[in-house]
Amino acid sequence: MFVASATLLSIVSFQFEAVKQHSAPSALKKEGDKDEMRNVEKGLTKFPLPFSRLKWAITFPKNNSRSQNSQHKLYTDLAWIYDRIYPRIFDYKGLYDTLAGFLEANSCRRILEVACGTGRLMAILEENGYEVTGLDLSQEMLDIARTRCAGKLLRQDMREMRVEGSFDALLCLGRSFGYMLTDDDARRALEGFNIALRDGGILIFDSFDAEVTRRYKFGVLREFVYEFEDMKITRRSKSPGYNETDITWFVEWEYIIEDGERRVIRDQTKLRSYDKSHLQEMLLDKGFEIIRQIQGRELTLVARKVGMPRKEG
Ligand SMILES: C[S@@+](CC[C@H](N)C(=O)[O-])C[C@H]1O[C@@H](n2cnc3c(N)ncnc32)[C@H](O)[C@@H]1O
Repeated sequence: MFVASATLLSIVSFQFEAVKQHSAPSALKKEGDKDEMRNVEKGLTKFPLPFSRLKWAITFPKNNSRSQNSQHKLYTDLAWIYDRIYPRIFDYKGLYDTLAGFLEANSCRRILEVACGTGRLMAILEENGYEVTGLDLSQEMLDIARTRCAGKLLRQDMREMRVEGSFDALLCLGRSFGYMLTDDDARRALEGFNIALRDGGILIFDSFDAEVTRRYKFGVLREFVYEFEDMKITRRSKSPGYNETDITWFVEWEYIIEDGERRVIRDQTKLRSYDKSHLQEMLLDKGFEIIRQIQGRELTLVARKVGMPRKEG
């Protein structure tokens, strides 16, 4: 039933940044990869430092409140950094090319992009004639999206979406589902996705894949350097390990911004991966039938709304 298309696999090239760090330089193709190449040449991929040698202290939040989980600095104070470096991490045009096939095949014109971020994918969809509404939790991300997108932008939490509608397709990409830290979060989001879609509407979303997370090399300091004409941004990350019970993990980042001056900004968040079977089960429960599964670094699922979501309890 689940057929992974080789073409799709090659086109959906979201990069799991941390895993990408270990790629061979010869496999690198895009602009951002030049940055990685330099990192590889500098030998930065080879230095798993013991945490005791790291200068920055781990100060993870003690509770898992939503604002702390979702609204980390990357999507608020550092939204402008996100907007600059992510086109070197995600291939938005390649992603669009992949999506276009599904959208055309299912006669989709009206699209809701959940977790639209700074609107880079939304803008490409609009350029190609789609009518797109963007939704995101972060006002700062939406403010940047406003500069490039014409469509409606809604500030909402995907777990509490109030978008009743007849969207032909709902997209939630860029690993944004990783902020659904509990089953309850995930179920509420999927229920909202169902309600926003017309009957037969298409849901396309991606998730960190628990199988990949279990093989991931935690406890390594990773560094990427992004050079621009007017500044250099160095991003370091580390993640001590994952919690086997719910497959969540904390990541701590350090951004060094050099533009004549040098600023260091720290950030942190918590993410979650899902097992394929678990996502499949929740999707069925929430009124979707899975029509395609694309196994890359992330797990991308394409599902069709076939009924109403089963209510909890
Ligand atoms: C990794 S970014 C992806 C953004 C965009 N899809 C892209 O590919 O560039 C994750 C986005 O999810 C948003 N987000 C996180 N938690 C959310 C929530 N509960 N509801 C809606 N958006 C959320 C963040 O504000 C951020 O814009």
